[in-house]
Amino acid sequence: MPKAKLFLIVAATTLGLALAGLLGGALIVYGGLYNVAATRQHWQVTHSVLETAMRQSVRVRARDIQEPPLADERAALRGAACFSDKCVQCHGAPGVAQGDIGKSMQPLPGPLVDVNRHWRPRELYWLVRHGLKMTGMPAWEYRLADGEIWDLVAFMQYLPGLSATQYDQWQQKATAMALPACGRSSSTPMPPGPADVQRGRQALHQHACTACHSIPGVTGTAAFVGPPLDRFASRELIAGTLPNSQENLARWLMHTQKIKPGTAMPELGVAPQDARDIAAYLLTLH
Ligand code: HEC
Ligand code: HEC
Repeated sequence: MPKAKLFLIVAATTLGLALAGLLGGALIVYGGLYNVAATRQHWQVTHSVLETAMRQSVRVRARDIQEPPLADERAALRGAACFSDKCVQCHGAPGVAQGDIGKSMQPLPGPLVDVNRHWRPRELYWLVRHGLKMTGMPAWEYRLADGEIWDLVAFMQYLPGLSATQYDQWQQKATAMALPACGRSSSTPMPPGPADVQRGRQALHQHACTACHSIPGVTGTAAFVGPPLDRFASRELIAGTLPNSQENLARWLMHTQKIKPGTAMPELGVAPQDARDIAAYLLTLH
């Protein structure tokens, strides 16, 4: 067969297959053929492939994280208190069932009692800090300070060895220490340094802003509960009450209900750093 003819056949076959693939894909999407019900399980092979991809993704990304010393029992006790406050509802603990929401999530958030067999401390830090896309595991960097995430990692080093009774004793010891509640809030001090526009863009997603507002540059379903925030930099007033500036915008995000009592926008407990970064991002929208 002449070379030119062979080339034509190969090219036509490739194009044909690609078109068939596209048509098949379009049929599945627009024909509603894929069942999204939470009661439908993945095939075992799909589950295994997704799990392997997740594990490798975390390993590669956590490779260069420097671990602080983790043997400190005080840090682990702080972590124990934070764990009971923020993680047990979904993951459960020795002798403690997860809440109803955690029990019915897909994928299921498992008990973390064997977690240090699968993950190194720096990988646990990465997982807790960044969360897992498409699973419901939150990115805690917007809810916890960096030190609090390491406290949790320290606690997870002890967790596998704890019986239900010991877990309970840890919680009692932590309560006796009268620790401040873990978590960032609008009263957390502002770290020094300039506003970080890119961090602000991510924070918009992590504080549920996109549930109510359409925001240019942030992926989300078109939402019209609150006003769209496009071209926000050219707005004169914030919610018709405050002159538009970075500082006032940050105040609006931290103290929404104090600034405009009864407004439909809830107060979201945005920490000062996030409020500053979000405000900086919104003011880049011309
Ligand atoms: C809203 C529910 C929810 C909360 C709250 C939550 N998680 Fe998760 N977590 C998940 C889900 C869902 C997964 C993914 C499970 C999977 O893919 O197998 C997960 C996965 C993980 C993993 C990876 C486990 C593995 O080996 O697969 C770790 C570690 C983890 N979470 C730690 C934490 C810690 C620490 C906290 C508290 C700061 C926390 N999680 C709070 C839902 C939650
Ligand atoms: C539950 C829905 C809801 C959520 C979540 C929400 N907002 Fe709002 N937002 C509103 C509503 C409603 C208004 C209009 C308030 C008014 O004018 O009284 C508003 C007003 C605003 C305004 C002023 C808009 C204007 O046209 O002057 C800004 C800026 C804003 N929101 C930013 C945010 C950011 C940033 C977040 C996330 C941290 C957020 N919102 C989360 C509902 C929401």
